[in-house]
Amino acid sequence: MADLIAAVPALDVRGPGVGDVTAVTYSSRDVTPGACFVAIRGKWTDGHAYIPDALARGAIVIVGEMPLPDDFPPERTYLRVENPRRELGTLAAAFYGHPSRQLGIVGVTGTDGKTTTATLIEAMLAAAGRRTGLMSTVDFKIGATRQPNNTRFTTLEAPEVQRVLAEMVAAGVEDAVVETTSSGLELHRVQGVAYDIAVMTNITSEHLEVHGTWENYRRAKAMLFEMVDPEREKDIGHGVPRACILNADDASFAYLRSFCRAPVLTYSIEQAADVRAEALELGVDGTRFRAVFPDGGAYDMRTPLVARFNVSNCLAALATGYALGLPAASMAGALEHFSGVSGRMERIDEGQPFTVVVDYAHTAESLAKVLEVLRPITRGRLIAVFGSAGDRDRVKRPHMGAAAARLADFAVITDEDPREEDAESILREIAAGAIEAGAIEGERFACVVDRRAGIASAFAMARPGDTVLLAGKGHEQSIFIGREKLPWDDRRVAREELAARAHRRGSPEASSGRPLP
Ligand SMILES: Nc1ncnc2c1ncn2[C@@H]1O[C@H](COP(=O)(O)OP(=O)(O)OP(=O)(O)O)[C@@H](O)[C@H]1O
Ligand SMILES: [Mg+2]
Repeated sequence: MADLIAAVPALDVRGPGVGDVTAVTYSSRDVTPGACFVAIRGKWTDGHAYIPDALARGAIVIVGEMPLPDDFPPERTYLRVENPRRELGTLAAAFYGHPSRQLGIVGVTGTDGKTTTATLIEAMLAAAGRRTGLMSTVDFKIGATRQPNNTRFTTLEAPEVQRVLAEMVAAGVEDAVVETTSSGLELHRVQGVAYDIAVMTNITSEHLEVHGTWENYRRAKAMLFEMVDPEREKDIGHGVPRACILNADDASFAYLRSFCRAPVLTYSIEQAADVRAEALELGVDGTRFRAVFPDGGAYDMRTPLVARFNVSNCLAALATGYALGLPAASMAGALEHFSGVSGRMERIDEGQPFTVVVDYAHTAESLAKVLEVLRPITRGRLIAVFGSAGDRDRVKRPHMGAAAARLADFAVITDEDPREEDAESILREIAAGAIEAGAIEGERFACVVDRRAGIASAFAMARPGDTVLLAGKGHEQSIFIGREKLPWDDRRVAREELAARAHRRGSPEASSGRPLP
């Protein structure tokens, strides 16, 4: 405990300041006797209001930013700090014995492509025989076990991040790949994580509701690069390479570069860079390209991943693998046998005469890119089913509508996660963008509140050779409506609706290829 307190830059320490804590938590409900409770001022609640509750439940150390509360029991310890959120990470890291110092840590950030890139890097490490861990939007892998991430968070709160890393250490993991969001960085959820390699995919306008401005958003992502400390010693007994992997094709490249203290390794499809792709062949069932490395080595790569943006993701992973000293042959093998990320460009085939693809694209940029990928592989019409989450970035809504108007033949604008916003008005904001881009309601798009009904209507209008894209939910296992989190899986619902449709076919009322609305 003395160590724990020493780990925190406290402005003021009251009470004995000794004794072992049994847990570190920011939720008074999770306080057990002997715990350390960190009071955090959030958007909705102020953790300081729960200090009495935490004390009643047996917390022996309280960390907060307010002066010592009145009638604070003298036998307990109060630490006043400047930023409790940040110290939550510091304390959690110390509590779990600094697991990230015993691992090689690769952090992946960016707007789009984080999960894909992180999963690729993990696959390359595993192919090279390393024992790996992965924390991503889709799943958590700890050595030999992999479990779905059902939390709806990509970067968990600091105590959970540290706990998972500690589990990795206990499982003998050597290298961990940690998908790191800008919210995770800004909210100090990865404080105390000793990153060795930081990887950037790209920066576009997602998530502005948390960061407020573009500048804050860029700045938050830059934090990951600052966190790669070239001087830091690790406890593994051998050096771990340090590098910042940057996308030279991204507009934020120069900005991010100024935050890097470790050696920078760049990748690009379009221009000179350390790791480059040449001779791109973008096929409908996969992609080929030649990867050129800084040492002059060039290797032919093949992957079932489609689309140009996935070449960027592959290059980010290859540059990381290169920095880690992985053999090119094993990286090539990992790309070739990559089975994709769950809920990304996943085909649903129940024998229907049209193609159904589930994808997680939930920004205007990624929606546009997916539609561009699907266009050449679609004989008939391209039908997009998508929405936009409530209580999240509103700026993107009309852009999503416009992207669909530009690139799909028909759009079914429907619920994503309306949360506590009015579902109908979210759809109207998206529709406004479609109308602005020249689409006429009823001819080129329809608004259907209720995602299942939206999916069903898209299937009802689909004719042989068409492609129906169900975008935005991917692997997710729930939908937020009002304050409720209801079970949901686009792939399951798609299968159910396709089965119901097949069942109806043949009956006199059956109608297939019925136009919308
Ligand atoms: N490099 C990229 N550039 C643009 N779009 C991409 C890129 N990589 C993937 N996408 C698109 O974004 C979708 C999400 O990809 P992925 O899950 O890898 O990103 P992510 O950054 O982890 O997203 P999230 O922030 O939701 O966790 C994909 O299904 C694809 O449509
Ligand atoms: Mg992700």
